[in-house]
Amino acid sequence: MNDSAITAAEVDLTVDLAGLALRNPVMTASGTSGYGPEHAELMDLTKLGAFVTKAVSVEPRKGNPPERIVETSAGMLNAIGLANDGLDGFAANKVPFIESMGTPVIVNVVGHSVEEFQTVCRRLDGIECIAGVELNVSCPNVADGLEFGTDPVRLRALVSAVRGCVSRAKLIVKLSPNVTDVTATARAAIEGGADVLSAINTVVGMAINVDTWKPMLANRTGGLSGPAIKPIALNMVHRVYRDVAKDANVPIIGMGGISSWRDAVEFFLAGATAVAVGTALFVEPTTPIRICEGLREYLSKRGMSSVRDLVGKLQ
Ligand SMILES: Cc1cc2nc3c(=O)[nH]c(=O)nc-3n(C[C@H](O)[C@H](O)[C@H](O)COP(=O)(O)O)c2cc1C
Repeated sequence: MNDSAITAAEVDLTVDLAGLALRNPVMTASGTSGYGPEHAELMDLTKLGAFVTKAVSVEPRKGNPPERIVETSAGMLNAIGLANDGLDGFAANKVPFIESMGTPVIVNVVGHSVEEFQTVCRRLDGIECIAGVELNVSCPNVADGLEFGTDPVRLRALVSAVRGCVSRAKLIVKLSPNVTDVTATARAAIEGGADVLSAINTVVGMAINVDTWKPMLANRTGGLSGPAIKPIALNMVHRVYRDVAKDANVPIIGMGGISSWRDAVEFFLAGATAVAVGTALFVEPTTPIRICEGLREYLSKRGMSSVRDLVGKLQ
């Protein structure tokens, strides 16, 4: 430790995600800040390391009926059902704003078949202002009803099929926590050709109304996010880093319950190169800016010049 050498302003927060240069390591998590305009009213988006959009599918989707969101004691349960305008709607209505955002944009992609993922990713790869595509593999394949992201064989096949359609944008694969061994799916994603991994998506959960004896969500189950899942996410990020990603030199975007700079530091130490903030944005939309300020102070107090020096330093 060296208290005097580096001022907070001098601290270098830039990171490199498989060749994608970010001004800082803090981004939004998919589905929690729309496609940009919704969040631009609440914070200066150029202060983000990157903006990650809500999911885009080939066809427009209405999503699930209400109730779609329920508060729990330590987080939220959502079953939005990936409602979106579809690929044409996205290209016509959302891309113009993205072009002018002044921040790298990663588009989250969802599909119900390998071909759907390919169609969306091929088109997005052709749109210059999109820096990366993030595959949301926590959804069932219509062909067999099984989730892509929970089985290494299915996941490897999906990622390698999509890899053939993405040559310019970074290919990011978002790991599901709803598996027995996250290192197996992480390895499969890397073998399939992922440039970057992100982890974790929401944890499957349920809430029940004791008056009606019915599930609180119309979809019965939903995805748990927020502080409750942080320890799960940290453990998974660390295992993926230690057992798979470090040797493969594949960076990880860590997420799950991050709401402060301290949370972010834990994820860097566990092995994440960047972090994403989701549920905390509903409480405080400027959380990413506060995290960057806190990181600067923390690193400067420790006499460290770069956030990159924290990555994977867990003792
Ligand atoms: C309301 C809501 C919508 C979400 N939509 C998506 C989505 O469209 N695609 C996706 O990959 N993840 C989606 N997620 C998962 C988040 O991106 C993130 O992985 C997860 O919530 C954990 O981070 P957090 O605890 O900071 O929210 C959604 C989460 C929430 C709360």
